[in-house]
Amino acid sequence: MSGTAAPGPGIVLVDDQAAGTLPPPPGGAPDRPLPVVLDCDPGHDDAVAILLALSRPELRVLGISTVGGNAVLERTTETALRVLALAGRPDVEVAAGAAHPLEGPLRTAPHVHGESGIEGPELPPPESAAIAEFAPAAMARWIEAAGEPVVLVPTGPLTNIALLLEEHPSVRERIAHICLMGGSITEGNITPAAEFNIWVDPEAAEIVFDSGIPLTMIGLDVTHRSIVWEPEREVMARAGDRVGPVVGGLLAFFQSFHERTYGWAGTPIHDAVTVAHLVAPELVRTAALDVRIETQGRFTRGRTVVDLRRVTGRPPNAHVGLDIDRAGFVALLTEAIRSYG
Ligand code: RIB
Ligand code: CA
Repeated sequence: MSGTAAPGPGIVLVDDQAAGTLPPPPGGAPDRPLPVVLDCDPGHDDAVAILLALSRPELRVLGISTVGGNAVLERTTETALRVLALAGRPDVEVAAGAAHPLEGPLRTAPHVHGESGIEGPELPPPESAAIAEFAPAAMARWIEAAGEPVVLVPTGPLTNIALLLEEHPSVRERIAHICLMGGSITEGNITPAAEFNIWVDPEAAEIVFDSGIPLTMIGLDVTHRSIVWEPEREVMARAGDRVGPVVGGLLAFFQSFHERTYGWAGTPIHDAVTVAHLVAPELVRTAALDVRIETQGRFTRGRTVVDLRRVTGRPPNAHVGLDIDRAGFVALLTEAIRSYG
């Protein structure tokens, strides 16, 4: 069964104090690109997020750090290198990070992304190698060398980010914002309660959400509305003759999980929404809310407990995504893919 029924209306707040007391993500511009670090576990949607980030003049990618998540660290690291070869950007540094969460073993998602973490079309071979530096140390160096506050863009488990904050505390003041893909106000995906990135390492997520660094949480409530429907995917596949066909193939494979699980004749591009939000903030509606991370629950470990109705009285610690301009997102992504020629 497959359908094109978009999910219902986005989440509506009674008193939408979207601004709240938290600074929003800083904006980038072509003449003053925003320095960003991509921390990822590619992963089909991480790969698209990397391609989107590298295509935009509003962003300056300082480096890419990899983490075990969708697949084991060796595979996510190799995939990041292969995506850079596809993008024609072997100059971008890649640093491998945590192979497992702060506590317990790594649990990957082969049922979603395949054993390799990037099943589907053949990516070009790497044209560069990962640097020897452990990712948190490399991230600290990139941040210190940036010369201005940096935005971190985690799209996998938050282990590297937690290690960066714990092992290199002096960089905290140089991090302007953390714009992450993870969590959910409503249902989970890897469990009924938890979204995968948070579920893999709830202890790391708690460190990040409690860090006091301004944060945007792009969760499943938004990303499950970022669906690229089949006809739109076919347009992307024909957008140029280098990157387009590969992205079309990646999304075709990624769709198979979503067709089986949700009945969608399309696929959400979770991670690319974080990058799109930095490039075009108007695409995603957010609200400043308090988010707690459940680390103990027998059935709810890894859940992001979002105080949507502000019943706890706790001050907001995150801008939480509520809805997305899906058509605008798809247009931005299609233009980015086409820009590679
Ligand atoms: O739950 C979706 C998230 O988990 C995405 O980042 C996907 O790449 C996986 O890491
Ligand atoms: Ca990811």
